[in-house]
Amino acid sequence: MCGIVGYIGTNDAKEILLKGLEKLEYRGYDSAGIALRNEAGVHVFKEKGRIEDLRHIVDPNVSATTGIGHTRWATHGAPSRANAHPHQSASGRFTLVHNGVIENYTLLQKEYLPDVALKSDTDTEIIVQLVEKFVQDGLPTAEAFRKTLLLLKGSYALALLDEQDGNTIYAAKKKSPLLVGVGDGFNVVASDAMAMLQVTDQFIELMDEEMVMLTREHVTIQNLAGEIVSRKPYKPEIDASDIEKGTYPHYMLKEIDEQPLVMRKIIQAYQDIDGRLSIYSQIIDAVTQADRLYIIACGTSYHAGLVGKQLIEKLAKIPVEVHVSSEFVYNMPLLSEKPLFIFISQSGETADSRAVLVKVKEMGYKALTITNVPGSTLSREADYTLLLHAGPEIAVASTKAYTAQIAVLAILADVAAKSRGYSEDFNLVHELGLVANAMEVLCGSKEEVEQMAYDYLTVTRNCFFIGRSLDYFVCLEGALKLKEISYIQAEGFAGGELKHGTIALIEEGTPVVALATQKDVNWSIRGNVKEVIARGANPCIISMKGLNEEGDRFIIPKVHELLTPLISVIPLQLLAYYAALHRGCDVDKPRNLAKSVTVE
Ligand code: F6R
Repeated sequence: MCGIVGYIGTNDAKEILLKGLEKLEYRGYDSAGIALRNEAGVHVFKEKGRIEDLRHIVDPNVSATTGIGHTRWATHGAPSRANAHPHQSASGRFTLVHNGVIENYTLLQKEYLPDVALKSDTDTEIIVQLVEKFVQDGLPTAEAFRKTLLLLKGSYALALLDEQDGNTIYAAKKKSPLLVGVGDGFNVVASDAMAMLQVTDQFIELMDEEMVMLTREHVTIQNLAGEIVSRKPYKPEIDASDIEKGTYPHYMLKEIDEQPLVMRKIIQAYQDIDGRLSIYSQIIDAVTQADRLYIIACGTSYHAGLVGKQLIEKLAKIPVEVHVSSEFVYNMPLLSEKPLFIFISQSGETADSRAVLVKVKEMGYKALTITNVPGSTLSREADYTLLLHAGPEIAVASTKAYTAQIAVLAILADVAAKSRGYSEDFNLVHELGLVANAMEVLCGSKEEVEQMAYDYLTVTRNCFFIGRSLDYFVCLEGALKLKEISYIQAEGFAGGELKHGTIALIEEGTPVVALATQKDVNWSIRGNVKEVIARGANPCIISMKGLNEEGDRFIIPKVHELLTPLISVIPLQLLAYYAALHRGCDVDKPRNLAKSVTVE
């Protein structure tokens, strides 16, 4: 995780860096820092906490036109001022920010710097100390930087300042994202284009194991063999307004509300000129020629994958397995003869998923990435990509990306089914249109859901979500949403599984949210609700119109039964939002989490 920025130009670097870091806070917010270089030298300001805490300690009298910055999600070393970036070399000549993990930092210290006492507990400081060592050994800064990069094992996006050279920022990338932004009389680097859209809309992608020297006028990219690389800038598909909150109090609420629009954008993006759903034929061939699909994902994306499996198996009749990325590499199942791997990742940067991608590519298999971020690592490294078209998702808790993932998986399932000759009486364009309408209705029911959050979740310490069939998967997601932003202990269970152990946790007043959107299991989930009521639970039944019964707390509009996860999740997202709000939690930036999880 972590986010980095750098600016070299003629304007006030301080404000540009701080604004850039604010846009990167989704990547981590344990501590933050900036380094500003002017004629008097390099001035470092860093603080535990968020960018607003950093703002308070930055000296307003220091002005500079060059600087680098960092927002941290702690991996090595607790969140503290000492462990916050930027880090400086022993003499203070070099200053560095880093996103990633250096796996061999202790070995490097033993081998190259046994006598240097490091000032922090981080894996990062060794990098800046090595650069200084190699410069002291006689190398120019660029060469010392390159020599250091060749020694590093692990992942990095780096930006480095040399106090003795006010005209250059050095940067480099391996496995962690980093872009160069180009402008007239200035250049920038950032972990994400969002950070620097404030000054430019022209960006250059960097590849792994490339380093770059930025001056005010030039950008020089070279690989670690020292060969110059030339690459043209591109304009990202986002503009500054996509990443503003507008009139919303939180990004999460804005993103929940954007879901109907995202559904319509997805339908449009995947329609051909005749209005039929269509996917690049090479992708459909890869899917239909596989004897088994392996969906690999984490967290919310994994939950979308569980729904995707049902859609693909029911519509296209291709067997699918769904695996949590972090378990897959070490616990790989016996693979089928012709597998295709499908990676689902909002960010396209999740290290756990990337580790699987690297492994299966080494084994010679093909991979498809379903992501929201074109050009992301998982997209670049897979053979094929399908985009979510959800627009930037900034709140740490994923909402619109989840529903977009399910919609794209439904389209993949539908197009693959048609290509395999299964032309069921299922018009997905029409059905997704109905889903978008239903989503609008649900987004208009905020007061009702807020009251539910108030009634069930204001004082409780735990909450259970139960469902059967597709509803079970949505329960997993509802519970994840609630726990990650409200810190209420929440678990999703298959309704029938409760009696095999978990029902022991039900006490007088325990909230149990039950989903009832599936006709075949409507009677049985209601049986499970009776079981928990008999043990004192406070039930909250969310049912679909047509299946509803007296006493149900919330009724969602009717949509095609296979697509109910797209809408039943919305009251659960809102429930989590209002529970967090009522409990005074920071909805968009929950503790200990970061949006883009780029460490394994
Ligand atoms: C929860 C959430 C996470 C992510 C997970 C995977 O709200 O957002 O569980 O889904 O970290 O991230 P991506 O999809 O970017 O690979």
